[in-house]
Amino acid sequence: MQTSEATHADSSDVRRQVARRRSFAIISHPDAGKTTLTEKILLYAGAVAEAGAVRARRNRRAVVSDWMEIERDRGISVTATVLRFTHGGTIFNLLDTPGHRDFSEDTFRVLSAADSAVILLDAAKGIEEQTLKLFQVARARGLPLITFVNKLDRPSRDPLELLDEIEQTLGLEPVPLTWPVGTHGNFEGVVDRVRSAFVRYRRSAGGATMALEEVTAQGSLSAADGPSWVEAQDQLSLLDAVRPRLDSEAFLSGRETPVFFGSAISNFGVRLLLDALHEHAPPPGARIASDGRERDLEDGFSGFVFKIQANMNLRHRDRVAFVRVCSGHLRADMRATNARTGKQVTLAHAQELFGRERESLSEAFPGDVIGLVNSPGLRIGDTLYAGDPVEYPALPVLAPERFAVVRNRDMSRYKQFRRGLAELELEGVVHVLRRADRGDQEPILAGVGDLQFDITRQRLETEYGAMVDLEPAPFRVARRTDAAGVRALDGARGVAIAERADGTQFALFESTYHLERVAAAHPGVALESIVTG
Ligand code: G4P
Repeated sequence: MQTSEATHADSSDVRRQVARRRSFAIISHPDAGKTTLTEKILLYAGAVAEAGAVRARRNRRAVVSDWMEIERDRGISVTATVLRFTHGGTIFNLLDTPGHRDFSEDTFRVLSAADSAVILLDAAKGIEEQTLKLFQVARARGLPLITFVNKLDRPSRDPLELLDEIEQTLGLEPVPLTWPVGTHGNFEGVVDRVRSAFVRYRRSAGGATMALEEVTAQGSLSAADGPSWVEAQDQLSLLDAVRPRLDSEAFLSGRETPVFFGSAISNFGVRLLLDALHEHAPPPGARIASDGRERDLEDGFSGFVFKIQANMNLRHRDRVAFVRVCSGHLRADMRATNARTGKQVTLAHAQELFGRERESLSEAFPGDVIGLVNSPGLRIGDTLYAGDPVEYPALPVLAPERFAVVRNRDMSRYKQFRRGLAELELEGVVHVLRRADRGDQEPILAGVGDLQFDITRQRLETEYGAMVDLEPAPFRVARRTDAAGVRALDGARGVAIAERADGTQFALFESTYHLERVAAAHPGVALESIVTG
């Protein structure tokens, strides 16, 4: 039991530490420049000495282990990581999200651990399909959003037109805090509207080190400074009339988004974005528990598991649970309780994460993400707490849209097949559903995209030594149902009932037509599209 003095000292410490923290994610359509921007943010924060280090490290690691061959072969990012770095006294936790749409469910969970997000747009393309989808997820989570328009060094769309698109398509009021000067392939710099200054950039060799910046008071520039400047000035007068300044409350409630312009590859505009994350992105706030009550930030330690990654390093065969700290002061000598099982969890092996690298951690505060290595019995969505019990709501999952039957090819490897499937399901790689009449012989893999199946197959083979056959299953859409639904839908045409290992029942439909017909014929039956638990 702590003395009241110690508790008091601890809670003011927690408040101070919370104020220093910013936990954010970057969301974008693949190829908009997320990896590049991430590297450049790290460069400006001093977390890497030269840009290119993250990518180089990533490639080197890919060579020494065959972890995620698919990632390497197809040049896509599958595994989300966490990057923790300190800049100007602020501790940032950057939660990386996989860009490919087939991993939207993973992104969905990662965003539940962030307090804000950067939406990254390609200036030539504006809002693309995946940007929109991820934006909807971020909005559903109530995250404040900062927009970064990238690749201004190349011919791009009119910035005013891009603002309109943000407003029309996303329903967000964009408020540019910087404005580009000299677009269309002749990007000179940005006006910092908050400080009324023009920042002119010069590129460093290969963009590996910070860009050179020359800052001039906006008022000292005139028509003599060239046509780009005249054009920018006209646009700025228009903006001053219609979008004068960011309303902090409107930003935090997701109605306004501050907009920044830049070129990640040449480092233009990156520093101003990092400053904005420090200034505008919210620190962690109190989270709402399942019973609807807020868990105060200064209460005992609590957090939830939003991601599990097994076998990150094949030689170690370990399993890392990523925990977002929600309240309290976590110390490595503590034990926590898993709210679902009531079992004790030791925090002695808590790790601080930087991509795939990790270091022992002695303490953590709300907003931090820690890795618990080889902590048995943890599942995605589990709440851990010390002190007063608390449980956070289950992480929602997206209703599956793709289905495949998986069969074990070699009966002597049946145990490995079952174990592999069970572990990959716990990691959230894919849902594994079983029909009452086929059971474990022919489980159905269900997910948002086919790449989830490719990864399941590849990991079953390389990590568990189980060779499998995959065959498309005749379903197009799934809905969560309940025991009454199972009884009502028994024998209905074009519907199959399948159960997940945790007992969740799914109705699988051969087409949306079947779904609509069944929904009309059984209006009282539960058919939920966003599945919880
Ligand atoms: P992603 O993670 O969002 O998928 O994007 P990534 O950073 O990998 O960038 C996608 C491509 O866009 C890369 O080119 C990258 O160099 C380029 N890029 C990123 N930011 C900018 C920018 O500000 N301006 C310009 N002009 N290009 C940018 P690539 O040819 O696919 O790869 P690489 O050979 O350059 O590595």
